[in-house]
Amino acid sequence: MLRVENIVKSFDDFTAVNGAQLTVADGALVAVIGPNGAGKTTLFNLIIGLFKPDRGKITFDDKDITGLPPYEICRRGIARAFQIANIFPRLSVFENVQVAVFAQQRQSRNFLQPAHTLARAETNAILESAGLQHKARHIASALSHGDQRILEIAIALGSQPRLLILDEPTAGMSPEETATTMSLVKQLAQTRGITILFCEHDMDIVFSVAQSIMVMRHGQTIIQGTPEQVRQNRQVQEAYLGGADA
Ligand SMILES: Nc1ncnc2c1ncn2[C@@H]1O[C@H](COP(=O)(O)OP(=O)(O)O)[C@@H](O)[C@H]1O
Ligand SMILES: [Mg+2]
Repeated sequence: MLRVENIVKSFDDFTAVNGAQLTVADGALVAVIGPNGAGKTTLFNLIIGLFKPDRGKITFDDKDITGLPPYEICRRGIARAFQIANIFPRLSVFENVQVAVFAQQRQSRNFLQPAHTLARAETNAILESAGLQHKARHIASALSHGDQRILEIAIALGSQPRLLILDEPTAGMSPEETATTMSLVKQLAQTRGITILFCEHDMDIVFSVAQSIMVMRHGQTIIQGTPEQVRQNRQVQEAYLGGADA
């Protein structure tokens, strides 16, 4: 579904992503791991079009999307939930998701359909699949940190993505919130058929959830493979899993 080939991105004289490779199969749960500063967030920003690569190629559904602007990449079915909160704090949970659903419907649906009814139904469906339906009327800023992060995922679902990119979805969460969030992520993949690409520093989560793991270091890909292949890889063991900067 998604293929990243030899992608390079420099900031001034520092090369944050230096030839990384990534393949994401349709319907898969794929994790990117690597020490802080390895280039994971930059890689995600390249995929969603926030940065233009200096070199390399990104294809989605076998079509070249390299260097396209973010709205065009979103329109093609890729959405992301930011590492940093991206919600409207003074709107309710329902309104936050509805805004995203409206934005999508304005692009794709015809004008004769009753937009409010459709948006309401879709918003409720998303809130339900995110487990937020009983908090629909709560003001977003009053939610716990964990629920705010889940709301970001719900907002991302408003654009009806086929590929959802999550940058450290459980960062700052309690163990309980982490478990809830990861089971939600798995459920989204299974019940809504969404392909998920995420990065995460908790190795227990990565190795229990991901079907494919890509390991990054210094902007490069060390290996991508099944959890077992990655665990067995000598270079990964030395450079990352047992490394001082892991
Ligand atoms: N906008 C930017 N300007 C300059 N340097 C950046 C920028 N974004 C990221 N970097 C640098 O690129 C490197 C990779 O960062 P990042 O992609 O955030 O890594 P990760 O998400 O794996 O921790 C870091 O050294 C970071 O300081
Ligand atoms: Mg990061």
